[in-house]
Amino acid sequence: MTQNRSIPFVDLVTPHQELQEELVGAFRAVLATAGFVGGPAVEEFEREFAADCDAKHCVGVASGTDALRFALTAAGVKAGDIVLTVPLTFIATTEAISQAGALPDFVDIDPRTYTMDPEKLRQYLETRCALDPETGRFVHLALGKPVTAVVPVHLYGQAADMDSILGLAGLYNLVVIEDACQAHGAEYFSKQENRWRKAGSMGRAAAFSFYPGKNLGACGEGGAVTTNDPALARMVSMLRDHGQSRKYYHDLEGYNGRLDALQAAILRIKLRHLANWNEQRRECARRYNELFSPMADSIITPDQPPYSKPVYHLYVVRTAHRDALQRHLAAAGIGAGIHYPIPVHLQKAYASRQWNRGDFPVCEEAADQILSLPMYPGLTASDQIRVAEAVAECFRMRSSDGGAVEEHGTGDGVSPGALAR
Ligand SMILES: Cc1ncc(COP(=O)(O)O)c(C=O)c1O
Repeated sequence: MTQNRSIPFVDLVTPHQELQEELVGAFRAVLATAGFVGGPAVEEFEREFAADCDAKHCVGVASGTDALRFALTAAGVKAGDIVLTVPLTFIATTEAISQAGALPDFVDIDPRTYTMDPEKLRQYLETRCALDPETGRFVHLALGKPVTAVVPVHLYGQAADMDSILGLAGLYNLVVIEDACQAHGAEYFSKQENRWRKAGSMGRAAAFSFYPGKNLGACGEGGAVTTNDPALARMVSMLRDHGQSRKYYHDLEGYNGRLDALQAAILRIKLRHLANWNEQRRECARRYNELFSPMADSIITPDQPPYSKPVYHLYVVRTAHRDALQRHLAAAGIGAGIHYPIPVHLQKAYASRQWNRGDFPVCEEAADQILSLPMYPGLTASDQIRVAEAVAECFRMRSSDGGAVEEHGTGDGVSPGALAR
């Protein structure tokens, strides 16, 4: 091993090489029947994934975006409704809300977990909305539209604080759809129910993505809706298949949003490895946490509240010197990413909504400071040590330079030192 060998941000090749025989076998089996759409592979995967999520039903669809859109529609979200989510997410979350005909709006995130801040949700509901005595609907006062749903995002593989969110949703009669696209296998300890609950089993429904880089990824596109509600599952099954209740009987207009049989066959094989891969990710996270503990003044490691068993889809650190650190790692041959550099409310796609910098300050400050380090099952301890050494070297160079230049101010009290554990 040479010191210059690069460390990728993610390694998708090795697990596919390790499973090659089985995966090719699955492809051959699908070829042998030419059952490319629907059929036993999809149904068996749906059964197995539902069981894995502790959910009664799973409906395979074409992508995580479709999963969110179909779940929202099937849960009764209508054109013109407002659906609340967070601005630190992949744009698919808000695209799906818009595609369901609704208007996305945001509440800010918690600065430690990067997931929806339930206190901000409470403030939004208490100060901006009121019950309309004429319609009996819970309406946003300035926008004049009903607020009907919340989409908490289990970002980076860590569940949002679901007890608090579900409690508020219950008070205001809001549907909760989990965006679990990054959280296959994540768990949340519900004090309300005094038990661990799986991502995908807590909301009215949940959406998963099987994009190749996810903890459970297809060899192409794929997604799924999980739910305990049989009527919702039935509606998603129709929506994904042109609104058909049976062949050529179209109860409504739907979409072409099915999960390929080939992807389902591949996902069945990979699902058997998910728990082990997630455990490897947790082990990598523990090791990084240890390696970074002497650098607590310069770098914030991911927060893991007592209610959370995350699956580390991403391992995201935070530093005021993020851009310099990313450049330093790149020069050392170490891949890193930013998830996400531009909060959704500041994307050009939403210019017409006239959101500004300052509207969601916790998210904006995080977006300037977060950096995702290499994280995948099979990442070796020696590579993690190299990553940590490169990080330490970057901070040493900065301090010997005087290191005075702040790239991104730490703003209202969210400084690395303050948040380090
Ligand atoms: C948080 C989140 N939501 C939704 C999606 C959409 O999933 P897909 O790319 O499968 O449509 C993704 C995928 O990247 C995601 O990370």
